[in-house]
Amino acid sequence: MSEHIKKVYSFYSWIYDAFFGKIFEHGRYSAFHMMNVRPDETILEVGVGTGLSLPLYPKDTRVVGIDISQEMLDKAERKKQYYNLSHVNLSTMDASSMSFADNTFDKVIASHVITVVPDPLRTLKEIKRVCKKEGEIFILNYTGCNNKFISRFEKFISPFRDKVGLGKHINLDELLRDTHLSILCEQQVNFLGMCRLIKCKSSPFLA
Ligand SMILES: C[S@@+](CC[C@H](N)C(=O)[O-])C[C@H]1O[C@@H](n2cnc3c(N)ncnc32)[C@H](O)[C@@H]1O
Repeated sequence: MSEHIKKVYSFYSWIYDAFFGKIFEHGRYSAFHMMNVRPDETILEVGVGTGLSLPLYPKDTRVVGIDISQEMLDKAERKKQYYNLSHVNLSTMDASSMSFADNTFDKVIASHVITVVPDPLRTLKEIKRVCKKEGEIFILNYTGCNNKFISRFEKFISPFRDKVGLGKHINLDELLRDTHLSILCEQQVNFLGMCRLIKCKSSPFLA
């Protein structure tokens, strides 16, 4: 499955910015504002892709971006060089099995990733593990329209979307419950509010 994702994103890497850059720009800025990044914080971008958000992070932070697709990371690396982002480090890594120690990052963001990874629950557990106990986790995902007909249609085409690497239908609230993550705040972002941006953290008293 990961091999399939790698192949799919190796193709998308060439068109990703042109296609998704503007469409998801509002969500990217909203996520950055919600993150309220502070000096000296360590931030992890899971599935950083072509690094569209990287130029937003101030130079007094430490940013790590990981992705399973080398071709997507190559594009992110170019942005790092172009914008001189010496505070950014990029690595090829599977989000469902990260090599970071427990409690490493102050903030972790997964933008348009949880619906794409083969095992969303395992990935969320990993995100929670590498985030500090008092840290914050941000998840941004396409959730579709509130209209029940469109929503039914979207569920219907979900297997096809999954095949072409554009995400599958997931029950994020259920996944968060299973991971013992509680939502602190959320908002609908992007065109027609089609994406859901949430800030969450480890539920107190639960492992
Ligand atoms: C839709 S793109 C989102 C890119 C970026 N976060 C953004 O918002 O523009 C999904 C990204 O997740 C990456 N990805 C998919 N499965 C992954 C995994 N298991 N581990 C790490 N990255 C993964 C893909 O290679 C791709 O770059």
